[in-house]
Amino acid sequence: MFQTALETAQNAIGRFLQTEFAGLTPGCVADGMRYAVDGGKRLRGFLALESARVYNVPQGQALFAAGAVECIHAYSLVHDDLPCMDDDDLRRGRPTVHLKWDEATAILVGDALQSFAFELLSRDGAGDAKQRITLISALAKASGAEGMVLGQARDIVATTTRAPLGLEEVTALQSGKTGALITWSAQAGAILGRADAAPLQRYAQAVGLAFQIADDILDVEGNAATAGKRLQKDAGAKKATFVSLLGLKGAKARAADLVAQAEAALTPLGDAAETLRTLACYMVDRDR
Ligand code: IPE
Ligand code: IPE
Ligand code: MG
Ligand code: MG
Ligand code: MG
Repeated sequence: MFQTALETAQNAIGRFLQTEFAGLTPGCVADGMRYAVDGGKRLRGFLALESARVYNVPQGQALFAAGAVECIHAYSLVHDDLPCMDDDDLRRGRPTVHLKWDEATAILVGDALQSFAFELLSRDGAGDAKQRITLISALAKASGAEGMVLGQARDIVATTTRAPLGLEEVTALQSGKTGALITWSAQAGAILGRADAAPLQRYAQAVGLAFQIADDILDVEGNAATAGKRLQKDAGAKKATFVSLLGLKGAKARAADLVAQAEAALTPLGDAAETLRTLACYMVDRDR
């Protein structure tokens, strides 16, 4: 049932974005945007849809939030893969945007996806005026210099400085790099449902950290063909990760603890949060 819910959401988000992109001027930027949002697990979008569903927000409305966060996420990956960042040639099982087109196009595709996310959230269908401003302002914070960009900057700096990061620093790095967008996605449902965001925020903080630990484990244990991206890269780049700091066994134990914490945070939401409970497990037990 969870798998069906996830696939239904993935398709709904895909259709929504293709419809929204339909009016873009034909060219490599529009093509690159379509290419970049395609094929991901859409976990952030799914999280936005599911958290909205807990509060009976119509899916047609929540899709604006889901689509927006998937655009920001796709932009972050396009830039993350650039030669000046992680220098990757494979993403979602296909050539990265800068190889399919070129670096300038990849930068512009990322820029355009970022702008498009905010445009989506400004649309009438996304919510009332106050909700739209709250979503936009929170997404700007989550994705910018105090959020995802800060985490990415810390990640890059960590590969070029000699002193390896400690657990506290890696946790802080993660909360920007991966945690901020995941937290925004979960909070979006509460904003749209005019509800207290605290339970979903606690859930998302635990799940976001568990998700990054799983990504670090995947880098060591995973298979590139299944994951659709190059793996075994972190150790070579001398990145301090949850695996390098805690060991594989320790990292898995920490991820399991966090899943339990995430599930506990959902208690006030009752049965309506069942899919979010399963999602917490899925975030760590994944091979791609
Ligand atoms: C990968 O994110 C990048 C990280 C933040 C670790 P996902 O694993 O959610 O990537 P897609 O969207 O499914 O490709
Ligand atoms: C990427 O983290 C995080 C963002 C793009 C914000 P990683 O560099 O670990 O992601 P992968 O492993 O390339 O997917
Ligand atoms: Mg990176
Ligand atoms: Mg990377
Ligand atoms: Mg990684």
